[in-house]
Amino acid sequence: MKFCIDDANVEKIRRIHDLFPIDGVSTNPSILAKTGRSPYEVLREIRSIIGSDGELFVQAVSRDWEGVIREAHRICEELGDTTLIKIPCTPEGFKAMKELRKEGIRFIGTAVYTPMQGWIAAKCGAEYVAPYVNRIDNMGFDGVRVAKEIHDAIVGSGYDSYSGLLAASFKNSQQVLELTRYGVKAVTVAPDIIEGLVKNAAIDAAVDQFTHDFEGLTGKGKTMADC
Ligand code: G3P
Repeated sequence: MKFCIDDANVEKIRRIHDLFPIDGVSTNPSILAKTGRSPYEVLREIRSIIGSDGELFVQAVSRDWEGVIREAHRICEELGDTTLIKIPCTPEGFKAMKELRKEGIRFIGTAVYTPMQGWIAAKCGAEYVAPYVNRIDNMGFDGVRVAKEIHDAIVGSGYDSYSGLLAASFKNSQQVLELTRYGVKAVTVAPDIIEGLVKNAAIDAAVDQFTHDFEGLTGKGKTMADC
């Protein structure tokens, strides 16, 4: 399963990418707006952190398919061809997906709230489909269950050799863990939730105890490199 950061805060991305096994970074127009900076300036910095092999997800904002195609060309020109264009799963979006598929430009179907959007995007050749887990929860449905249904629909339709989930919009570790267990293709998670996956008083207490015991044996500040 691929593990991506869902943010555009360069300092947070640098820290999380340095510490965790990260495959890519996803952004959307709202995430970019939070930086208050020029989009391509921020995205180029993110590209330099994740390297040319890292998957970078950048959303097109045009509402018409021709506009999405124009944006896709510019995004790939600026950020390289390991950049995936995020396209909302609307009728115009599906048309743009079919065209980009012919050109061999990588893309994902985003703003996914229903299994129908998901399997149509997969049929259009989307490499990923991004259900918004927490936003679905907030609508009074079960976001994890909807994401699992989309996963099943893609697998059941035989598109699974290429398409899969990039599950997004998480608000807690449990949502991430449940989809990880289910075997989805990828998750994209905000930095605070990533840190929260392993934030636990028991872990800190165990590590503190090891340090205390070892220092009792060898002296303060000593490690296995010093004795
Ligand atoms: O990148 C899209 C998705 O992750 C949105 O997340 O937190 O705005 O619901 P959120």
